Amino acid sequence: MSKYLITSALPYANGPIHFGHIAGAYLPADVFNRFLHQKREDVLYVCGTDEHGVAITINAEKAGVPYKEYVDGHHKTIKAFFDKLNIRFDHFSRTTIAEHYPLSQEFFTELYKKGLIKPAVEQQFYCPKCDRFLADRYVTGSCPKCGAPDVRGDECTKCGEWLEPSKVVNPTCKVCGSKPEIREVTQYFLDLPAFEPKLKAWLESKTDWKPNVKNKALSLISEGLVKRAITRELSWGVPVPLPEAKGKVLYVWFDAPIGYISSTMEWAKLKGQPDAWKDWWFGKDVKLVHFIGKDNIIFHTIIWPAMLMGQDKPYVLPDNVPGNEFYNLENRKFSKSEGWYIDTDDFFSKYSVDALRYAIASNAPETSDSQFLWEDFAARNNELADTLGNLVNRCFSFMKKNFDGKIPAQGELTAEDKALLDAAQAAFDETGRCYYGYKVRQAASTAMAFAAAANKYVNDTAPWKLRKTDLARCGTVLNVATRAIIDAAILLYPIIPDAAAKIMAKAGAACDGAPEFKPYAESLDGRALGADDSLLFTKILPEQVQAEVEKLKASAKPQA
Ligand code: 2FM
Ligand code: ZN
Repeated sequence: MSKYLITSALPYANGPIHFGHIAGAYLPADVFNRFLHQKREDVLYVCGTDEHGVAITINAEKAGVPYKEYVDGHHKTIKAFFDKLNIRFDHFSRTTIAEHYPLSQEFFTELYKKGLIKPAVEQQFYCPKCDRFLADRYVTGSCPKCGAPDVRGDECTKCGEWLEPSKVVNPTCKVCGSKPEIREVTQYFLDLPAFEPKLKAWLESKTDWKPNVKNKALSLISEGLVKRAITRELSWGVPVPLPEAKGKVLYVWFDAPIGYISSTMEWAKLKGQPDAWKDWWFGKDVKLVHFIGKDNIIFHTIIWPAMLMGQDKPYVLPDNVPGNEFYNLENRKFSKSEGWYIDTDDFFSKYSVDALRYAIASNAPETSDSQFLWEDFAARNNELADTLGNLVNRCFSFMKKNFDGKIPAQGELTAEDKALLDAAQAAFDETGRCYYGYKVRQAASTAMAFAAAANKYVNDTAPWKLRKTDLARCGTVLNVATRAIIDAAILLYPIIPDAAAKIMAKAGAACDGAPEFKPYAESLDGRALGADDSLLFTKILPEQVQAEVEKLKASAKPQA
């Protein structure tokens, strides 16, 4: 049996995260993790905040807050947001924990000793007024490739080109606005071209990766890899472990993925088994799965695997990198500063977490960009209310009223009953394949199609009529329908965990933790239904949708 080590991209501790992030790297991972628990697989899910880098130092300086204090605040907010959304990590750490520094330095030293990291003199912008080298985003100017104005020094936000900061056209210092000069400085470069053959063979061996991820990685290789500077002149970050490199730190993208390992180390330490992290990172039978957004493909399919390949210790390489496309809000990127966002406190005071999870899952950006549309959100919520909520409510209140709150015994099964139970088995097979294959969208629709079939079964068999004509048959129908309801809850548990648990408790089948992923096999005859009569979902009305869209438009600033 294999073990699964799951990670989600470490979010920057640099501001709140939004539904777009959730759709790309967190909900799909959480669904996968919950599903694997249902399959009784051995699984560990780690994450944490990414707390270094220039984006953070600039914002902390702007806010006039010490770096550590700045990231502390965002770490807390982000963690609380994941808790709210029921994203259930085994451990959520941060890249400023003590374990992270020596481990990142060890990664550097290994590669350096092998000549895979080498120093080279580079031209870099230096601001005489601020008396400092301008790393990455401390300089702005036009993109040398596409000409877009006001791009960051490290990456063109318009064309996506990864820039060497010294190549920016018409540069200005972001701090003081003056024109920087070019100075020579030594940086350390990771020799990616040296890894090319090994990376290519490894990527080509991946037959089950998403085409968008694999093709992107292979096309980067065929364009030719270049040496990348992995150090910066900054005071915040992991110090470069060489006496001659004083004042330099590791580039944030070098230390960030190492956070996956240091998070696992901290998890092991907190468990009182400090070596347990090795079972995951050095285990031959471990499947390492990195959930990311498409902007992180190069790092997780080229740079990070190269860093791992260059170590002496037997680290596992990623088994899969399910990269998702972007998830926008009503045809525009989520952006709090542009007023194009959803206030999450307000959102969750009105709508349920499960409805959001279901809406995102049903429309996940798996193969192309997708978006949160208020109308779609309402439709998905109402689908849950009409199909699942209504089914549960109809059947259970009927049994409470007419069968003393107990599930009547199952008599002989008709072809119609058997067809529904067969459909359950088929739904488990198909939905299971989807969950294993990172196809959350299809998993959601297959599971929901089964709930719809159960609804149809109840409509067709009409137990409320049978009660007067054939009480025993009426009982069998309700027994079969309850089994189907439990099955629907089990199928949907990874996506709507709270509602699924509630449904099982209502059906007198409460379960501790993740319900096993297979058709419910225990007898239901005479079992007492749970006491909770509350509605599972509340419908969202068209006027609410309209009000939400108007509120969004009113808060929007014009697009740049
Ligand atoms: O793009 C981002 O938000 C990065 N903070 C992701 C880092 S993923 C990993 F490598 F840590
Ligand atoms: Zn300056």
